[in-house]
Amino acid sequence: MQDLKNKVVYITGGSKGIGYGVAQKLIDAGMRVAISGRTLKTVEQAAYYLGDSESVLAIASNVSNLDDEKAGVEAILEKWGQLDVVLANAGVGHFMPIDEMSAEYWNNMIDTNLTGVFYTLKASVDALKKSKGYYMTLASLAGTNFFAAGAGYNATKFGVVGFTQAVMLDLRKYGIKVSTIMPGSVASNFNNNEPDEKDAWKIQPEDIGELVLDLLKMHPRTLPSKIEVRPTRPDKK
Ligand SMILES: NC(=O)c1ccc[n+]([C@@H]2O[C@H](COP(=O)([O-])OP(=O)(O)OC[C@H]3O[C@@H](n4cnc5c(N)ncnc54)[C@H](OP(=O)(O)O)[C@@H]3O)[C@@H](O)[C@H]2O)c1
Repeated sequence: MQDLKNKVVYITGGSKGIGYGVAQKLIDAGMRVAISGRTLKTVEQAAYYLGDSESVLAIASNVSNLDDEKAGVEAILEKWGQLDVVLANAGVGHFMPIDEMSAEYWNNMIDTNLTGVFYTLKASVDALKKSKGYYMTLASLAGTNFFAAGAGYNATKFGVVGFTQAVMLDLRKYGIKVSTIMPGSVASNFNNNEPDEKDAWKIQPEDIGELVLDLLKMHPRTLPSKIEVRPTRPDKK
């Protein structure tokens, strides 16, 4: 997919944080981008700042609801007639020792971070087969490094990494590329963070956007399927 102009992208959880930063970069590169989030008003607001209605579409969808995801993809196909890139990015984190973890928090993470990634794929895979497109997941270094108070989040992100690698093996015969991106700390709104100077040492959302562009521009014969990316200087914390 070396010519990115007018290619159509769906980013789940693009109303803020990493998804929003990636959307900015892709729109700057001439792509058409649909972003989603749980409430239409919030997504529409984000879409308004990203660009005009030619290049941006706001979708209200909860990724843990398959019908929402199907309707979102249908809206994209109705508007632009194609879908080339899907970034399953929406995610949440609840951090506490496992003996304090409520079933509600556990299910919210599994339903969003893991089942949501599957539902996004399920809704978009036919369109991706048609376009010989690219499916990416936003996992985390928490998908390979476990830590105290992270059991639920670790379980989802280890799951996303395993899922994406197996999906890569299933879908490459259709000409679909599949990668998982595993960032360390990113300056986003994750866990109610308000990014400011204290986050300057972290990866910035637009850096993940650059990475996504690099992946998209890579020669069709070559596929980085699992990408770890981390702040260069965590000692600047
Ligand atoms: N920040 C980090 O340090 C970091 C590091 C590694 C990986 N990650 C991963 O990166 C991804 C993006 O997180 P972020 O850091 O950008 O966090 P964020 O700033 O909190 O953004 C999360 C996005 O996901 C959306 N979202 C949450 N639950 C959703 C649901 N059920 N359905 C649809 N959209 C939903 C939110 O939209 P609404 O609230 O508007 O619904 C928002 O747009 C997550 O998968 C996270 O685990 C983050």
